[in-house]
Amino acid sequence: MKTAASTWTPESWRSMPAQQMPAYEDMKRLAEVEAQLAGYPPLVFAGEARKLKRKLARVAEGKGFLLQGGDCAESFAEHSADNIRDFFRVFLQMAVVLTFAGSQPVVKVGRIAGQFAKPRSAPFETVNGEELPIYRGDIVNDAAPSLAGRKPDPERQIMAYRQSAATLNLLRAFAQGGYANLEHVHKWTLGFLKDSPAWSRYHALADRITEAMGFMRACGINPDTAPQLRSTDFFTSHEALLLGYEQALTRVDSTSGDWYATSGHMLWIGDRTRQPDHAHVEFLRGVKNPIGVKCGPTLKPEELIRLIDILNPENEPGRLTLISRFGADKIEKHLPELVRAVTREGRHVVWCCDPMHGNTIKAASGYKTRPFDAILSEVRRFMGVHQAEGTHAGGIHVEMTGKDVTECTGGVRALSDVDLNDRYHTFCDPRLNAAQALELAFLVAEELKKEQALRPRVADDDEAAEAAE
Ligand code: PEP
Ligand code: CO
Repeated sequence: MKTAASTWTPESWRSMPAQQMPAYEDMKRLAEVEAQLAGYPPLVFAGEARKLKRKLARVAEGKGFLLQGGDCAESFAEHSADNIRDFFRVFLQMAVVLTFAGSQPVVKVGRIAGQFAKPRSAPFETVNGEELPIYRGDIVNDAAPSLAGRKPDPERQIMAYRQSAATLNLLRAFAQGGYANLEHVHKWTLGFLKDSPAWSRYHALADRITEAMGFMRACGINPDTAPQLRSTDFFTSHEALLLGYEQALTRVDSTSGDWYATSGHMLWIGDRTRQPDHAHVEFLRGVKNPIGVKCGPTLKPEELIRLIDILNPENEPGRLTLISRFGADKIEKHLPELVRAVTREGRHVVWCCDPMHGNTIKAASGYKTRPFDAILSEVRRFMGVHQAEGTHAGGIHVEMTGKDVTECTGGVRALSDVDLNDRYHTFCDPRLNAAQALELAFLVAEELKKEQALRPRVADDDEAAEAAE
């Protein structure tokens, strides 16, 4: 068997054990589809991935905050401009609140334009007495419970590519074409607060943003004069699970001669596929994109260091983001030892908190849900651990939508178990709805403000240059 140190090629993962891969029946058609994809244009450019890596390098140095979020699973059925716009709007609102509270640039990375493949805890499920292969994401099979629909279908990879291209096209237009104008984004937030029971708690922070913008305007800095105020950098990410698809979109960058995955700017390895000697780690070690690794309760410090050795042998800041997802009641047991090991070994990483995947419970109604309080508690504890260890709490990674769904309980409107049935639309895990997502940003902002008060910092010239880039 190959070891991780042997020569990497885009297909070297194929000779290694791989978890969570679908069992396609028609291997000939699968190969044809992969060949077809390999001839298609890249979705993102290497230069963009490098720009994201530079921004993440600053976060790793303690000078920035990563906001990563989007659907658990994108779906073919819900591909509409409205959905993309509503997500983007709330995401930008969150970013503005976090930028202001932390006085640091917020790096914006969506779980979007490629988040189609899902790892699952069991390969089968029983629906109405029938045993069916599990749903593995729209890029693999159909969520609807039928034997035919659950058969992995290679054709779906073409559809996922096309949907990713269309989504990315709209996101690029939104980010650069005026929709991301800071003054508009802030007005949406004020509008949201006006109608919300959360007004009393959050309006003070919102008012300070209004004042800061008024001050800048009076100084002649406004969206007409400063491009940073009318556009933004927005990046895409997804779990690199379906390796045949990823390989087909992996290309040599003509500028650097390096390999880049071009299916998204940042790719991550899931908690179920991070075995150091398996296929997913092998694939991702060879592409130069910024990458993430989900870190769950079974990850031991020595194994993490081994993973870092493999995935970031040159200790390049910005290359690696460690996305911890322990659960509110477990994070204080597990995170400190990982942080200490990484610090002791002098490794540069971004520490990011996914407060979703360790806090999933089954409600009495039978729905999978996540209590808002547990999500918030995991983020607060994450920040507490980093404060105690003297390291930088570098970001959050959330499952969210811009729609008013009822999937997570709690939040300012106090959704309860009995409400879940109203608008439970997710194709996989429960997401924060628009109000819950923005509320989480305000609450995390309060934590960042506290941190600011303890260790005041002003954005430095490098950050200003980066923001202006
Ligand atoms: C996910 O991010 O949707 C996911 C499956 O996460 P994890 O690998 O952390 O379980
Ligand atoms: Co999920």
